[in-house]
Amino acid sequence: MLVLGIETSCDETACALIRDGRVLSSIIASQIDVHREFGGIVPELASRHHVHAVTPTVTRALEQAGPLRLEDVDAVAVTEAPGLVGALLIGAQFARGLAWAIDRPLVGIHHLEGHICSALLDDNDEYGPTVPAHLALLVSGGHTELVEVRDLGDYRPIGRTRDDAVGEAYDKVAKMLGLSYPGGPVIDALAREGNPRRHAFPRSMLNQDNYAFSFAGLKTAVLVHLERNGAPRSRAELADICASFQQAAVEVLVEKTRRARAAYGFERVHVVGGVAANHGLREAMTAAAETDGFVYSSPPMRYCGDNAAMIAIAAAIRLHRWRDPPPLRVTSTRPLVAGLV
Ligand code: KG4
Ligand code: ZN
Repeated sequence: MLVLGIETSCDETACALIRDGRVLSSIIASQIDVHREFGGIVPELASRHHVHAVTPTVTRALEQAGPLRLEDVDAVAVTEAPGLVGALLIGAQFARGLAWAIDRPLVGIHHLEGHICSALLDDNDEYGPTVPAHLALLVSGGHTELVEVRDLGDYRPIGRTRDDAVGEAYDKVAKMLGLSYPGGPVIDALAREGNPRRHAFPRSMLNQDNYAFSFAGLKTAVLVHLERNGAPRSRAELADICASFQQAAVEVLVEKTRRARAAYGFERVHVVGGVAANHGLREAMTAAAETDGFVYSSPPMRYCGDNAAMIAIAAAIRLHRWRDPPPLRVTSTRPLVAGLV
């Protein structure tokens, strides 16, 4: 079965084609350059750019996958929520029109279910047909949460951030430091040069016996440091702040994940979402897995951030299960992922 996926929930216009456990193409038209001068995403601009980018992105994905024709596609999948409303609408309406034109089913996928499925992908662009039971740590620009995943569609969130998402904290701290948007990759790179023990930034909620997170205090601690000491005067000083900030964020993420994993008895931990690309987090999770004896996996770097392959995979697994009875012509899966917000 050939599934075409479309993702436009935020600032990436993405299209992917997958067939029988393999990604044939995954095109991502990023709008980062458009939003960079504003230091964050401007929703109206995002919508307008999706309108311009969606047709060429789908065309490129079809070309790169074969070339294939639209008529070869067996089903269309699209992110239906959550995300920027205007941006989501562009992808959803485009996908609806496409499915109607070729008379194929349309499956709406929850963005977080897509991220959960991204961990099924390996370096060779191949993915498994089932979702193994695991504890998922979802870390992105909009989410930070631990989810008990028993199967595709069987999600129980056990803790989430009470304020900022961790990716949001990275982006805001980067802005304070005069670094470019998105801040995550920039801080991550600088952190590798710095001393993570130079500044003792807070490990919020680490001493609390729950699985909730908070990153607003950490962000404020960096702001207070800058107000007291002024902007960093050298690259080394800047790198120390980045390394210390990253150390504080990663320590809390890893420690709470370890506790939840042990308490819920999972053998696997999957870390997904844009922040799963973070080197510090990947290294700390690898070390924790070795010490505690669990299997840790994150998607290849190219599938951590928003992409359409993860949306197509979620739809492919669902379609496979729905063979009997066949899916409706247009299927929203929102009622099936009640635990995710
Ligand atoms: O999953 P994603 O592409 O979009 C959302 O669904 O939010 O995640 C984007 C977030 C941004 O906040 C970005 O700064 C962060 O992921 N990010 C990183 C890294 N790469 C991207 N954060 C830390 N380290 C990275 N290497
Ligand atoms: Zn995302």
